[in-house]
Amino acid sequence: MRVLKHLFDKNRRWADQMTADDPQFFQKLSAQQSPQYLWIGCADSRVPATQITGLMPGEIFVHRNIANMVVHTDLNCLSVIQYAVETLGVKHIIVCGHYGCGGVRAAMQNKEYGLLDNWLLHLKDVYRKHETTLNAIDDDSHRYEHFCELNVIEQVYNVCHTTIVQGAWRRGSELSVHGWIYGIGDGLLKDLDLCVTSSDEVQSLYRMAVRE
Ligand code: CO
Repeated sequence: MRVLKHLFDKNRRWADQMTADDPQFFQKLSAQQSPQYLWIGCADSRVPATQITGLMPGEIFVHRNIANMVVHTDLNCLSVIQYAVETLGVKHIIVCGHYGCGGVRAAMQNKEYGLLDNWLLHLKDVYRKHETTLNAIDDDSHRYEHFCELNVIEQVYNVCHTTIVQGAWRRGSELSVHGWIYGIGDGLLKDLDLCVTSSDEVQSLYRMAVRE
């Protein structure tokens, strides 16, 4: 092996350690996965879902993209949500953004990034939707932080309106959608006090969250 040998070395040490801690660990995991949580987060390398929640492999199903977006027509994200809800039976969908998100930052600027600009347009839509609130914040870093939070709230709203989540609630499934944000500077998760457990709650909880 000529390249990236150090990653294989690290992997070997990790697997040995896991087996030392629990000799059945990989055997049990290979039989099945039964995670309770679906995590929709940013692709940012500093926000690894399993590590920051202190969970183990097998405990959290993960979808990540730039700026933790849930775009209505994104078959990738929708397929993940469908599989998590309908096959794995997760009880919680967590949309987790983070402060200092480069995607969110890029959407506030007018630089050109090529193909990525098409993805950032979804974020620019979020900005435009909350333009009055955001533009009223004088301090640039506070405005940036609040945009990161509002983006999470919008994506929670989008998750709640997918046919998958609507269908699960109609069938009476126990399923909650949560909005969280992570601080890269302190390693702490913050609950945005948005936890939706039924169709009836979506509008009122959304309005409270965005303080409309
Ligand atoms: Co990010």
